[in-house]
Amino acid sequence: MSGLGRILILGATGQLGRELQRSFAGAGEIVYPGRERADMASPEQVRELVRSIAPDLILNAAAYTAVDRAETERELAMAINAGAPQALAEEAARRNALLVHYSTDYVFDGARQGPWVETDEPNPLNVYGASKLAGEAAISAVGGRHLIFRTSWVYGPHGKNFMLTMLRLGRERDLLRVVDDQIGAPTTSIELARATRAVVDSVLTGASKSPEDWAGLYHMTCQGSTSWCGFARAIFAGTASLRNGRQPELEPIPSSDYPTPARRPANSVLSNLKLTERFGVQLAPWETALQTAISRL
Ligand SMILES: NC(=O)c1ccc[n+]([C@@H]2O[C@H](COP(=O)([O-])OP(=O)(O)OC[C@H]3O[C@@H](n4cnc5c(N)ncnc54)[C@H](OP(=O)(O)O)[C@@H]3O)[C@@H](O)[C@H]2O)c1
Repeated sequence: MSGLGRILILGATGQLGRELQRSFAGAGEIVYPGRERADMASPEQVRELVRSIAPDLILNAAAYTAVDRAETERELAMAINAGAPQALAEEAARRNALLVHYSTDYVFDGARQGPWVETDEPNPLNVYGASKLAGEAAISAVGGRHLIFRTSWVYGPHGKNFMLTMLRLGRERDLLRVVDDQIGAPTTSIELARATRAVVDSVLTGASKSPEDWAGLYHMTCQGSTSWCGFARAIFAGTASLRNGRQPELEPIPSSDYPTPARRPANSVLSNLKLTERFGVQLAPWETALQTAISRL
């Protein structure tokens, strides 16, 4: 064992989990148990797992992320997004391990003009957002050595995400109608994992060892913002050569023309100022991060 010690990655098969495996490779002894050993719906199993693995660092990329399905699976979403993080925080505190957890822009109602800051009042519009907010609260209540990174519109070369869905639909259809009145920051799993590693390195190897100096909640997204339709436009522009120049037509539509079970915030852009000021860490502009993600397709 070396460097950062034993690192437990939960949700290692997810978009972010895969990238965390890459960015923490060589940083320590990485352990990433599958779902059969780590069912996040069972806090008891989560506790037993942490006790048996005895990690120094826990990276929790596991989550219930089906935003619309959560409306009818509230209990399961709450168990995975709030119950499991609480168990992780308590077990991490017992052994003084560092817990890194991720939350969402969907804790906000979208009514603010301009980027949201960490001290703004959350008011989730949907069950997923409420379950993630409950997870944040549970971890904060335990306190200790923890970092919660709120991020947004996560996508990357693998998994289930907007970019890959657009590329598939673009092959199947000539016209795509895409929501244009929700604004956010598309953020790659690649940038998130890179920034996570930078912050963890700064916390674990930096001069400031006291959690009072660094523990807590930070917004962590790529720079800039766009609408889903603007994001789709950039995805197709950036991948034209992969599709022999074939471009589907994009029609911007209001959210009211694309009803979904879960309501979503109109503006979920997050200010990253606290992250940058505290750790000197900044994610790439979303357009640059998109090009990197496309180059990995
Ligand atoms: N995706 C977004 O747009 C977005 C936006 C804002 C914040 N976030 C947050 O960012 C973090 C990473 O999200 P992501 O997009 O990488 O998620 P993801 O691709 O959906 O991956 C979720 C991971 O959680 C695992 N998981 C789900 N239920 C589980 C259970 N009961 N037991 C064990 N493992 C379970 C999945 O395992 P399987 O592979 O076995 O299903 C998968 O490894 C999450 O905290 C999410 O809330 C995501």
